[in-house]
Amino acid sequence: MTEFVKFASTDEIKEGKMKDFSVNGSKLLIANVNGNYYSICSTCTHKGGPLADGELKGNIITCPWHGAKFDVTTGKVIGGSAKEDEKKYEVKVQGKDILVKI
Ligand code: FES
Repeated sequence: MTEFVKFASTDEIKEGKMKDFSVNGSKLLIANVNGNYYSICSTCTHKGGPLADGELKGNIITCPWHGAKFDVTTGKVIGGSAKEDEKKYEVKVQGKDILVKI
């Protein structure tokens, strides 16, 4: 069953920043792009690099290991060595709470 779970408050993830979280053995990150929050799996589909330690420019995350690029708003691969898209999670904001559907 999937449900929305609170992961963070809006104060914790400033514009242009991201943060990663572990839940039930999987890892996801939440990114703030122009005041909107997005969540994708934070383990790179190439060789498992930690995407939350990479660079976020606009809506594009660059993996710190070999430079694969993903669109954080869709999870889709944009370039580099990765072939598989990242899983995308639904996000909603209630007051100051950031909730992710897992
Ligand atoms: S592990 Fe991310 S690009 Fe290789």
